[in-house]
Amino acid sequence: MYISITKTTHPGTLLPSDQLGFGIHYTDHMFIMDYSDEKGWYDPRIVPFQNISLSPAACVFHYGAEVFEGLKAYRRPDGEVQLFRPWDNMERMKNSAIRLGLPVVPPEDALEAVKALVKVDERWVPSDPGTSLYIRPFLYGTDAKLGLHGVHTAQFIIILSPVGSYFDNGMEPVKIIVETEDVRAIRGGTGEAKCGGNYGASNRAGERAFANGYSQVLWLDGVEHKYVEEGGGMNVVFKINGRIITPMLTGSILPGVTRRSCLQLFEDWGMPVEERLISVDELFEAAANGTLEEAMCVGTAAVICPIGELTYEGKAYTINNFQTGPLAQKLYDTLTGIQWGTQPDPHGWTCKV
Ligand code: COI
Repeated sequence: MYISITKTTHPGTLLPSDQLGFGIHYTDHMFIMDYSDEKGWYDPRIVPFQNISLSPAACVFHYGAEVFEGLKAYRRPDGEVQLFRPWDNMERMKNSAIRLGLPVVPPEDALEAVKALVKVDERWVPSDPGTSLYIRPFLYGTDAKLGLHGVHTAQFIIILSPVGSYFDNGMEPVKIIVETEDVRAIRGGTGEAKCGGNYGASNRAGERAFANGYSQVLWLDGVEHKYVEEGGGMNVVFKINGRIITPMLTGSILPGVTRRSCLQLFEDWGMPVEERLISVDELFEAAANGTLEEAMCVGTAAVICPIGELTYEGKAYTINNFQTGPLAQKLYDTLTGIQWGTQPDPHGWTCKV
């Protein structure tokens, strides 16, 4: 794929890593490519970061025709830049696009575009501990027709954001509340696709939780409101009485790349994992009788974040004395060691740009 490159004449100033936050600052350039049924994907280009112009009738605004991805580029100790399992993200974007009826960007083209853009904005990849360059590819329908219809024109964009930690207090344990009113997804819906609509539908509960002092919600299944599914923007892993348990992928849960990586690491360490339904009653019984040893959120943005307190129907339980447990710490150290290139990568998860 030939990608044309127009460089900015106003390169931005890099920020110190303690001012990065998450997804607030953007790099100098972005990637754009257009689609129509007649032409297929065309005009792949890297241009200065800029606003986009769309018809107010574009179907993305009215019918949520959008999917996105999240992955990161890391600065290795030798100064080179690498990506972590980008193939998995591009494959998931393909599956999400199919679910939403959007045109598929061939995963190899999407990856080529990611690499080309990161290369152009390489100076923006931070190097301080805990920092990375968050990569946000997204794809949406642009057809300017209000009648409900399939998508015939679309755009694929990639933007980049130098980031520190997702939660304000870094890897400090967070407080989470089980959401009992709203639901995020149901099987057969779009829960396993990474589409904006899932997160839009989560906003009300997330804001309510935030206003009450919680970092995010823990979603229950949308039918019986009985089984734990995932956190607000990340998967969850529990250690109960020495057993590692994570909710199985039922169709309404996002198949996280970090989740999959954790499962592989557990296997490497000879720690059997139960991927199964876990009811909120089982979880809170374990919290009450002290057998819930550790709980954590796992995701690209959050990496590994211990859950220090869980609340359900007004009852709050502290987990592991609100401390980061040994399992969360080991996962964090191993995963980030591979991502930042300070540890061997036995599974071939990384690739240089
Ligand atoms: C990610 O972990 O990359 C995500 O997409 C979560 C996002 C909702 C911030």
